[in-house]
Amino acid sequence: MGATYVANRGTFQAGYAEACFDRLAKGLAPRRILDVGCGTGDFVDALSRRLKCEVVGVDTSADMIAQAKRFPHRFEVKDLSEGPLDESFDLATSFMALHWPSRESRVRLLSNVTADVMVAGFHGAGSCEEGVRAVRKASGLDIEALPTMFHRDSKDVWLDDFRNAGWNDVDIQEREIRTVFSSENECARRLLAAWPPILAPYFQDQEPILLEAAAILMKDDAAAMTSRVLEVIATKK
Ligand SMILES: C[S@@+](CC[C@H](N)C(=O)[O-])C[C@H]1O[C@@H](n2cnc3c(N)ncnc32)[C@H](O)[C@@H]1O
Repeated sequence: MGATYVANRGTFQAGYAEACFDRLAKGLAPRRILDVGCGTGDFVDALSRRLKCEVVGVDTSADMIAQAKRFPHRFEVKDLSEGPLDESFDLATSFMALHWPSRESRVRLLSNVTADVMVAGFHGAGSCEEGVRAVRKASGLDIEALPTMFHRDSKDVWLDDFRNAGWNDVDIQEREIRTVFSSENECARRLLAAWPPILAPYFQDQEPILLEAAAILMKDDAAAMTSRVLEVIATKK
């Protein structure tokens, strides 16, 4: 799964993470950063080069962390919802990860982030509806009911969750990013960056074929994906 993500991350996450960080981190000069849900580590490496500071990446997936270790930074398989790291950071970052844990465990995760400031971007309510519709049709599954599905919650839900986790100054902006795909292949690559962990338990290695079928359905449905992303900057005093 990590290798599939490395191959397809460029379809959305790569550019998005950089642009989101640019928008949210103006004026911050962190010395130590914790990247939560670092995946294959590309953004940890980009941040560390750009800010010339130490960046530590954590992720719950051993497969993702194995891929991340091709970069010369510290990476750990760690589920912050089960407890904090025993060290503190000036800044925590998180890109396209916080929508994965359940609501209950994300509040524990957020309260275990040992940083003064957090900047994050993740999918909000209604995000990627075109992809959800196509995968639902191609798979015949009730996608929203799958325990492996990511959570698409509103800004108000997230405001409550950050506050309940002890973040007292929380700003959340909604941003719509519409991508129009010029080919089925481009569309399938975007689906391959996100959907394998959701579908793997139900299709045993057949998920690339299913996602190619979903990409064909998307082509008949405007060949576009509308991400409704929530961008957060929060401080913990
Ligand atoms: C779409 S990837 C994003 C990876 C990376 N931030 C990037 O921008 O390329 C989402 C990542 O969130 C991780 N993840 C899911 N649940 C998590 C949790 N509870 N704590 C930390 N990471 C988690 C997944 O393993 C996956 O690597």
